[in-house]
Amino acid sequence: MTTTLQETVAYYNNLDPETEKRVDALLAQMTLVEKIGQLVQLNPFAPFDPDDYEAKKREAEEAGAPFEYEPRLRDDMEDLLRGGRIGSFLNVMTPKVINHCQRIAVEESRLGIPLLVGADVIHGYRTIFPIPLAEASTWNPDLLERASRVAAEEASAAGVDWIFAPMVDVSRDPRWGRIAEGAGEDPFLGMAMARARVRGFQTTGLTSGRNVAACPKHYVGYGAAEGGRDYNTVDFSERTLRDVYLPPFKAAFESGAGAVMSSFNELGGLPVTANPSILRTILRDEWQWPGVVLSDYDAVRELIPHGVAANLREAARLSILAGLDIEMVSTAYHDHLADLVTAGEVPEALVDEAVRRVLRLKFRLGLFERPYTDESLHDAVILQPAFRELALETARESMVLLQNEDNILPLSPDVRLTVIGPLADNRADMLGCWSLHNHPEDVETVLEGLSAYLPGDTWSYQPGCPIRDDRTDGSGIETDIPAAVAATREADVVLLVLGESADMSGESHSRTTLGLPGRQQELVDAIAETGKPMVCVLMSGRPLVIPRLAAQVKGLLVAWHAGIRAGRAVADLLFGAANPSGRLTASWPRSEGQIPVYYAHKSTGRPAAESGTRQFAEAFKSVYMDEPNSPLFPFGYGLSYTTFTYANLQIAESMLGPDDTLRVSVTITNSGDRAGAEVVQLYVRDLVACVTRPVRELKGFQKIWLQPGEQRTVSFEVPVRDLGFSGLDMQYTVEPGDFKLWVGPNAVDGLEGAFRVCEA
Ligand code: BGC
Repeated sequence: MTTTLQETVAYYNNLDPETEKRVDALLAQMTLVEKIGQLVQLNPFAPFDPDDYEAKKREAEEAGAPFEYEPRLRDDMEDLLRGGRIGSFLNVMTPKVINHCQRIAVEESRLGIPLLVGADVIHGYRTIFPIPLAEASTWNPDLLERASRVAAEEASAAGVDWIFAPMVDVSRDPRWGRIAEGAGEDPFLGMAMARARVRGFQTTGLTSGRNVAACPKHYVGYGAAEGGRDYNTVDFSERTLRDVYLPPFKAAFESGAGAVMSSFNELGGLPVTANPSILRTILRDEWQWPGVVLSDYDAVRELIPHGVAANLREAARLSILAGLDIEMVSTAYHDHLADLVTAGEVPEALVDEAVRRVLRLKFRLGLFERPYTDESLHDAVILQPAFRELALETARESMVLLQNEDNILPLSPDVRLTVIGPLADNRADMLGCWSLHNHPEDVETVLEGLSAYLPGDTWSYQPGCPIRDDRTDGSGIETDIPAAVAATREADVVLLVLGESADMSGESHSRTTLGLPGRQQELVDAIAETGKPMVCVLMSGRPLVIPRLAAQVKGLLVAWHAGIRAGRAVADLLFGAANPSGRLTASWPRSEGQIPVYYAHKSTGRPAAESGTRQFAEAFKSVYMDEPNSPLFPFGYGLSYTTFTYANLQIAESMLGPDDTLRVSVTITNSGDRAGAEVVQLYVRDLVACVTRPVRELKGFQKIWLQPGEQRTVSFEVPVRDLGFSGLDMQYTVEPGDFKLWVGPNAVDGLEGAFRVCEA
């Protein structure tokens, strides 16, 4: 527990005596049923009714009006609101509906407690930014903070006061579709991104005049699902929990996050939803964190199929006892909590504690003073030119140049180009896996982006094949590989725009094979036969496994699913109006069999020599017979159109006490002929400790922009207390001893130094 944590949570959660008095006064008036209402979160709409949908669509068409479907409210919704039986909504983003329901809660319920409206705004509300994995690849927390603020601006104008983000799950498994939603494989980078996003969402001064709370998720361990299969079992050591998976959550709380969403998974045999050591011991006893814990979707009911509760009543009891405050969607609290309290199986004091946290958040957000949303704001706030510009800036910075043989990029404007691939003329998939309020018509396609640079007759386009198997794709693209090959005849360069559709990543979209889907590799093979130089723009929601493709193309630009400005950003980078500056935040494996492959692995007792990898070169070492241990592209990796040299590594003091600060500097020179950005990365290794330590750990990074020939000294200051880990007794400790250190452009290269941490 640090003082910072105490101070920030005290501020953000309003532990000031005035608010506490208001909370107490309100709580004292509440019946048990009203209290439980505050712990219930539902979606207010009736199940989707296709007839109703079609009828409303026809009506709009006949009236010539734009069609936006507004589902019907549940029949019982107004009565539930009047009775104080519901405390919050999820995923409603229509100010009219929100205000209607809010009016009932505030004006017609006995105590007038306002509703809290939560929603998934994962990479933008209407201005859709690149998926979070791509956003993290900018290595630019300031940019993420600004992007998150835009998301909060727009969502707040839509009536949302609680954003179910950032997702801060560390993930080292690209099979897991939700790797798209996080910052990648590293806790240190994850902490930086978590802080930036929480700050961005929770900024004050939004146009709506309202406030927004962040909700880091999914607490905790969700990214370590066995086999990368979503919702699957998680089982790792307490040390891994503390050193790898918890830090981004703690960073989010230190930045003031007022709530957290617990995860679906079990951890060591106990689902988190019912896990008191996760929800109480760590959050409350150790960290003294007073924020709200919200379950994930239906997760309380899922305790039944998990096999720890026989029925919904038991599920309710286990969850409230474990420390879960709000139940999302399932109705175990609504149906059974009152009875559990009356029967003496759950102390009412526990319910009070949970309700107190919810009320505190509502006071903190100013909902009692300002419960309604100004319905006239929404259209004026969304998609402002500055927002679209920021989406472009983020998209450009998020893309990662992995290969550039013979400096094939940037392309010259008089190049004759043949564009091939199913993603070149595509809007919907640019929107990524998690954007609820997206509009495909907002998106610029790659072809549209390119047309800004190319005159009409110097290029042609052939899709070649659909993204996935012809039978299941649904895009209407027919496979015609010969036509694609024929189209390359006049080309100087073939530009391939390939990859995954948006729905191949994200929740419940895990994959076991991570190569190019459908017949896209076959398409590339056919084009490769022509001998024309190829550049590939690769779109995906995860690291892909592409050794064959990488060997075939000269230029390889990872564009992810980059949001509404994807097309323009790709074109700006291809033609050199912008210089690639993204760096990978998750390793790209050579094969699925290597997974998990990540840079901060342990040494093992039989480490492979750095160069050697194969069984026969290195008998009885920790290697594969058929493949190197290293990934195809490591964490931190990415190229630029210019080059950077690293020199003059200085360590101010190489003997440090536990309270000292490690001061490191290095001189970076832009040794090429273009302006560009470098991400300077600092890694350390604790050589000998009471428990094994990773072979490298990121401890600092800075993104710097340099003109050609410009030189800059970059300095890092790392408090020695940040070099620790969970010791034998699971207490955080920094041990005296020798460390290695590297400053470099990725997790593999760099200048090397050393320092020692001495006894106090
Ligand atoms: C997801 C959460 C999301 C929630 C509400 C769940 O299925 O795991 O990330 O916030 O749904 O939509």
